[in-house]
Amino acid sequence: MKLIETKTKTEMGVTAAEIFKDEIAKKHDLILGLATGSSPIPLYNELAAMCSAGSIDFSQVRSYNLDEYVGIGGDHPQSYGYFMEQNLFSRINIDKNNTFLPNGLADDLDAECARYDKLIENFGFADIQLLGIGPNGHIGFNEPAGLFSRNTTVVELAEDTIDANSRFFDDPSEVPRTAITMSVRHIMCAAKIILVANGNKKEIVDKAMNGEITSYIPASVLQMHPDATVVISEE
Ligand code: F6R
Repeated sequence: MKLIETKTKTEMGVTAAEIFKDEIAKKHDLILGLATGSSPIPLYNELAAMCSAGSIDFSQVRSYNLDEYVGIGGDHPQSYGYFMEQNLFSRINIDKNNTFLPNGLADDLDAECARYDKLIENFGFADIQLLGIGPNGHIGFNEPAGLFSRNTTVVELAEDTIDANSRFFDDPSEVPRTAITMSVRHIMCAAKIILVANGNKKEIVDKAMNGEITSYIPASVLQMHPDATVVISEE
């Protein structure tokens, strides 16, 4: 795994955005695997700025997101669908019909997971998979556990994930307890992986990069990926 350390979050965003820009310049119809949360925001800001300046073109890019909460829809301000619209899709020239997230309001969640697997299979694995990392080492919402799921699945969120995500909700009791997530297999099949993290994740990033490879620190599997880069800011 490659490590790039930056001083500020803004520099982290710029560094990661340069990688996206270079890859999209090489392949216009790139498939992006996207993430939500606080860590990708500086990157999304920079991608939006590059797009306004005309230095990156998303018109042929397709994207699918890692995960979505169960029980809230795309118009809920804390849903990942809403997050993506606000922080990226409405700010770049991507065709909204080419952006996909799991539907956390589906009546039949197993069927929804199967639909998402089919979508990934039809598109092919991501050219670039963007990741954040949970305080417990989760990637997507693949929480520490004895087993990894092969496919998109409904997961019970770990208590530390619910605690960490409660900062985004007015009332912590509103934080969803379950989510749909793409699998570790899907993540590992991406051609290139970029993980962005803020300084508060230094310790878990160090464990994931240099410690034992274990499903109890899901991000540690990235050590086995041939092209995984971590961009971490001191800030
Ligand atoms: C979000 C996701 C999660 C977050 C992680 C870090 O789509 O898959 O794995 O990347 O929980 O979140 P932040 O960046 O808010 O600390």
